[in-house]
Amino acid sequence: MDEHSFEDLRQRLGDEHLGKRMRAQVDHIISTSGQGLGGFHYENLPLFLRAVDLSLRLSGLKERGRQNALGFVVRETPTPIPGLPPALDGLRILHLSDLHLDGYAGLGGLMAQAIHGLDFDLCVLTGDFRFADTGLYRHLTEELEALAPALRCPLGVFGVLGNHDFIEMAPLIEAAGVRLLLNEGLALEFNGETFWLAGLDDAHFYGLHDFDKALAGAPAEIVKILLVHSPELIPDAAERGFGLYLAGHTHAGQMCLPGGIPILIHARCERRYAAGPWQFNGMRGYTSAGVGSSGIFARFFCPPEIAIHTLRRA
Ligand SMILES: [Fe+2]
Repeated sequence: MDEHSFEDLRQRLGDEHLGKRMRAQVDHIISTSGQGLGGFHYENLPLFLRAVDLSLRLSGLKERGRQNALGFVVRETPTPIPGLPPALDGLRILHLSDLHLDGYAGLGGLMAQAIHGLDFDLCVLTGDFRFADTGLYRHLTEELEALAPALRCPLGVFGVLGNHDFIEMAPLIEAAGVRLLLNEGLALEFNGETFWLAGLDDAHFYGLHDFDKALAGAPAEIVKILLVHSPELIPDAAERGFGLYLAGHTHAGQMCLPGGIPILIHARCERRYAAGPWQFNGMRGYTSAGVGSSGIFARFFCPPEIAIHTLRRA
């Protein structure tokens, strides 16, 4: 990250937020890398991941899981929003989450192929661009550049950071044409009607979300859409009057039991909010199963998802 990019982030986030995030990132690196020279220590990866990887290899299921992780499905969901103005009825949002782009060589291009030909007005990316949650991300640029042309749409491409993303990755992601919302929001216009799109910094690991900053300048009466990495701020968002909450993080389990029943969701929320469409006190929400895979590049009974939400008047 050059001096100009750092200064830009400093202006947008403020010294306190930037300082807290960078300190938390360093603490995270230390806790996952162990002591001494060399940076990365495989032996410190969670034992759980190694055990799953070993059992997939021994059972001959590793290749099946890899193929599943590349079997993208497109899920189109009518999304009724209370109080939606008639002009916004029919607005189509492409929603990708948990891309983990550097987890498989060529993944960005494969996602682009799957998105090609889909019709949408706005694109949102709800975090986790990197495969690991610390360490290098040197292949992220080429994967993002392969994906970015497929995301172009009239209202633009917006995103938030997830718990796998360091703040230093922000300039690289924005250079690929994704406008990150770092506790920021803006008014967008569709068919002559305005709505507010807000995005929060990661709440799951970093806990640096700030609703007040993301809503600064938002007119009280317009429809508000929230991007957050995880479905862990649902009551707070509903209280602040959001009409739609878009998230990911859970991967809907990624490695599930038959019938798509998740074993783990890694989120502090009830399971009914961990995948697909849901409702909370009049607020509509959707938790994406994710288009990428993390930990191990494999999926079972839980395909990678490209979601399209079509807004409808409730
Ligand atoms: Fe993720």
